[in-house]
Amino acid sequence: MAFNCKSIITGVLLSLTITATQAQSTDKFFPKKDLMTIGSYYYPEQWPHAYWERDLKKMGELGFDFTHYGEFAWAYIEPEEGKFDFAWLDEAVELAHKNGIKVIMCTSSPTPPVWLAQKHPEIMMVNENGTTMQHGSRQQISWSSPVYREYVSKMVEAIAKHYANDRRIWGWQLDNEPSHYGQYDYSPAAQKSFQTWLKNKYKAIDSLNKTWGTAFWSIRYGSFDQVRTPNAKELIAQPNPHAVLDFRRFSADEVTDFLGMQYKILRKHIPANQWITTNLMPEHAPVDPTRMTNLDFVTYTKYLVAGYDKGLGTQGFRMGSPTSIAFANDLFRSINGTTGVMELQPGQVNWGKFNPQPIPGTVRMWIWHAFAGGNKFVCNYRFKQPLTGGEQYHYGIISTDGVNLSTSGIEYTNVIKELNGIKKYYDPNAKIPADYAARQAAVLYSPDNRWEQDNQPQTYQWDYLQHLIRYYGSLKQLNAPVDVITEDKDFSKYPVLIAPAYQLLDAKLVERWKQYAEKGGNLILTSRTGQKDRDGKLWEMKWAEPIHNLIGAKIPFYDLMPDTVKGTVLMNNQTFAWNNWADIVEPNSDTQIWGTYTNQFYAGKAAVISRKLGKGTVTFVGPDSDDGSLEKAVLQRVYQQANIPVKNLPEGVILEWRDGFWVGVNYSDKPYNVQLPAKAQVLVGDKSLKTAGVIVWKE
Ligand code: GAL
Repeated sequence: MAFNCKSIITGVLLSLTITATQAQSTDKFFPKKDLMTIGSYYYPEQWPHAYWERDLKKMGELGFDFTHYGEFAWAYIEPEEGKFDFAWLDEAVELAHKNGIKVIMCTSSPTPPVWLAQKHPEIMMVNENGTTMQHGSRQQISWSSPVYREYVSKMVEAIAKHYANDRRIWGWQLDNEPSHYGQYDYSPAAQKSFQTWLKNKYKAIDSLNKTWGTAFWSIRYGSFDQVRTPNAKELIAQPNPHAVLDFRRFSADEVTDFLGMQYKILRKHIPANQWITTNLMPEHAPVDPTRMTNLDFVTYTKYLVAGYDKGLGTQGFRMGSPTSIAFANDLFRSINGTTGVMELQPGQVNWGKFNPQPIPGTVRMWIWHAFAGGNKFVCNYRFKQPLTGGEQYHYGIISTDGVNLSTSGIEYTNVIKELNGIKKYYDPNAKIPADYAARQAAVLYSPDNRWEQDNQPQTYQWDYLQHLIRYYGSLKQLNAPVDVITEDKDFSKYPVLIAPAYQLLDAKLVERWKQYAEKGGNLILTSRTGQKDRDGKLWEMKWAEPIHNLIGAKIPFYDLMPDTVKGTVLMNNQTFAWNNWADIVEPNSDTQIWGTYTNQFYAGKAAVISRKLGKGTVTFVGPDSDDGSLEKAVLQRVYQQANIPVKNLPEGVILEWRDGFWVGVNYSDKPYNVQLPAKAQVLVGDKSLKTAGVIVWKE
């Protein structure tokens, strides 16, 4: 192995300073002047040895800054139990280094070798149908299995020791998109671990019985080892909702703990300035990125064009929704203050509902959109289109002939040049424009509320995330910077705070909201809020009573309708339609009525209300619309009332400021003329922002 001596010494010194095993501060990992760097995945084990040199040379020539190795290579790293082989990986690391490319090294826990599967079949996960997963794909193992965890620990320890002081490694990725493809694990190992989790939480079984209300249908337990993982597929009627909520929490804790175990092992060996992360899909419910504060930061992966996301207009399916990358940026960045895109779709993929071509320019637009949202890096998935295996038909930077650039390869290399081109304009003292900062908003995201409502939607039309995105997307149209935060964060720095569908809460949170508004914040609460306590129990009070004083109103009842019937609301002399959900509101005399229901048997009752509270305001929105226009109109009025000027961008156009640069992208099917101030200096693109277009300017 060809180590550089100076690097080894620095590495040793740095690693000596590491004693703690907790997550590191992220400032030192990414110098601000680098803005955002671009990398690409490479799988040396999937290509003949003779190609490696040519491929990595090409990667370097194209300007890629880093590559990504090893997340699926366990069978090559440990071909036989306890016999580790790093010779091939060392060679690949050195080839990257020789070509000026840093390495993200991974732990290959999602792909245990066949010898392990055969020796310990009990490590496999079991899906909701009771089917035990088998070797032959990936992510087939239970994070709860102590046997699997032991083998993972040994593999991680071996790789950590081997690359302990290697300066060619930039950072580390744990596992790969740990999520079991959105499925829950019902294996015996998961069941046992769930019982232990419950025991730690409830201590005595009667406490669980009380919280879960197990008197209902005689579910009542005598001991923790009688409790099964709640699986709707093995129950004749609906499972106990409190059991489901706890199981969701347990499952998210379990994967967080599994990654934390790997983190601790790595941290013992690697230098302090090498970061450790994992890569997650924001949409996968069994995993909760906001829990993973035990890593240095969390990255996301994004595939927007795969037949699932209609986007806007007739060509939206070729670009995805404007809120897709935006929401991931604002959620993942807000967890630990730093994020990156660990995987970005390279062009056409193979696994979608159908797999269209993105509109030319889209890949470039996604990369700039990631830049706008503060990402420290974007890693393209993957360098070469595979010729064999489960992802044939999946684009890479290099197409099937192994040497020529694909269309997205061309887009990537152009963006690399564009990004390098703006670096000289980076001003470390640039300040966020005051009018933009004044619009700063936070959206309060709650995994508990999401899980609870996914399990008990009350109508086939309810979707927690879509409800949240209607507010989030409206904020983007008003050109507000947004952080998507969880409750552990401080609310006070946000002039506007939206807590969508906060069904589960406690008196402490209501008090924090109250103080936030009293001190000048503008709080917006929406449908379903305040109905239950944290355990999912309905309050033994009037409906949603814990928020009555805060919103200045009562909520006597709610209504739900089929998609064929539209409810109507009159606000600002305009009629808005709803049919997903409506909380009917009875305001106190000093609460303003902004919107009123105009049909159904409760026509004339209040739908949207607002009140002053101390120096701030509290607004409550009863209905959930389909198209987001009501939500946008409410937000516009909240900003207007607070005297904070906003813009009114067309849906699909996003303008964001980062590190002294304004970035504009266009996911809509109409061109948009960006209004630039006279002193603006356009660095990339131009002010007539076409579909899938990009503009970058400095003021
Ligand atoms: C991701 C996954 C990658 C690769 C990619 C293909 O979800 O993490 O390993 O399979 O999809 O598009």
